[in-house]
Amino acid sequence: MSALICVPADGLFRFVQSDIERVLFDGPAIHKRLDELAAQITADYHNRELTVIAILTGSLMFMSDLLRRIPLPLRLDCLSVASYHGTTKASGDMIFKQLAVPDVADRDVLILDDILDTGHTLAAVRKTLETAKPRSIRICVLLSKRKQRARDVDVDYIGFEIEDEFVVGYGLDFMEQYRNLPYLAVLKKELLEQANQ
Ligand code: IMP
Ligand code: MG
Repeated sequence: MSALICVPADGLFRFVQSDIERVLFDGPAIHKRLDELAAQITADYHNRELTVIAILTGSLMFMSDLLRRIPLPLRLDCLSVASYHGTTKASGDMIFKQLAVPDVADRDVLILDDILDTGHTLAAVRKTLETAKPRSIRICVLLSKRKQRARDVDVDYIGFEIEDEFVVGYGLDFMEQYRNLPYLAVLKKELLEQANQ
């Protein structure tokens, strides 16, 4: 089973190969970086209890693989937030799919998200969680795009910085597909252009 996780663009996932321009980070590269991130977070939160708020659905794989590397007392809650409405264009309007803000009063909160793009999602989540008066808030993203953002967001932990390209796999989707790929890949531009027409 574990061998499958490390097979890039192959085996079960052969059906997507014609949609993928190139693999950016394969399974072993992701896991190696997660080891480093987890070690840094574990050291920074030494002797503290962490409250992780993961943003669904894109951060699922990242959350699961990262948190199993952090040997600290830890609570986990998830927020479901949408901004993309099925295409690759960010609207700036954030929809929180649950009404209650997690109870993070006096907690050390670490927000996890898959990718920082325009900044709308993380700016909105941070602002919402701040209303619940946590002791501290930090943000950790697997990917950060190098670009001018619509909203400034201070991010404390970044897995990988990437160019401004649309990526899929390892939790990230394009029109709800490709989340189960065990690697991060750039999608062919033709597919994006077709969907945006
Ligand atoms: P932001 O609000 O524009 O920063 O975007 C954050 C959300 O948009 C992420 O949590 C993803 O769900 C989605 N997103 C942004 N860029 C990409 C991408 O390249 N691939 C897949 N999803 C993306
Ligand atoms: Mg997302």
